[in-house]
Amino acid sequence: MQTEITRELAQAAIDQLGWKSLVWLDEVDSTQRVANELAAEASAAPPILVIAARQTAGRGRGQNHWRSANAALTFSFVIDADSIPLANDQLPAASIAVAAGICNAVERFGDIHCGVKWPNDVYARGKKLSGLLIDVKQRSPSLPARLVVGVGVNVNHTPVEQDASLAATAVSVRECCSGPVDIGDLLTSLLMHIVQSLEMLAEPADAEMSRWNDRSVLNGREVCIESSTGQLRGRVIGLQNGGQLLLEQQGVSREVITGSVVEISPPL
Ligand code: BTN
Repeated sequence: MQTEITRELAQAAIDQLGWKSLVWLDEVDSTQRVANELAAEASAAPPILVIAARQTAGRGRGQNHWRSANAALTFSFVIDADSIPLANDQLPAASIAVAAGICNAVERFGDIHCGVKWPNDVYARGKKLSGLLIDVKQRSPSLPARLVVGVGVNVNHTPVEQDASLAATAVSVRECCSGPVDIGDLLTSLLMHIVQSLEMLAEPADAEMSRWNDRSVLNGREVCIESSTGQLRGRVIGLQNGGQLLLEQQGVSREVITGSVVEISPPL
């Protein structure tokens, strides 16, 4: 079993998906930056996987940073989005779909239950296991948009050993599965399940929505959400099929398209 990612394991993963393009980087500031640059190039031929052994300045949502360890997975991939509805108002749905795909992939590796924390985190045991980012490159109205999906997963390290301040907030697959996992198999599983989950967006299905809601860790909790328009407080009713969070405020329901959850009660 291999616990740290290598070029050979990344190549084996894309071979299994039938993808042709791999960008392997021993070290990079951000795979998302590199993937966004590739997505803008007319000559690029998605799907393309950009993956790094070490990422020194990983970008998270908003002002977040993504800290990486050697035994983590940090990758971004570029796909043509012709089979996925990708108006800007569909991005929250794409984010939930990717998070659900990560949950499906990770759960194959042990007795671990993963949840989706709207809008872009995957949680296990009440702590963050994975975060994701999605960027869209619309090159021209006549060409399919390109989707740049960036994923960071804590895999075979123990986040608290990397940084004591992460003890209460971060967890790894190894900790949840009581032992290391094969990182090449996990990468293959992640890519397959994420793509499968994104493709399901093309056919909105009640069953898929209900699976998202079964995974939504915020449902039923009181939250405070910060957005560009200020703070919103309310009780989470659930996720909508556009990826919006449905909140109840004094008996009135309200859809939230984007924002950061800054308070949760009871805590996760
Ligand atoms: C978040 O938690 O806010 C999102 C984190 C996303 C991190 C991944 S790691 C691979 C890819 N490259 C980046 O710079 N960011 C994403």
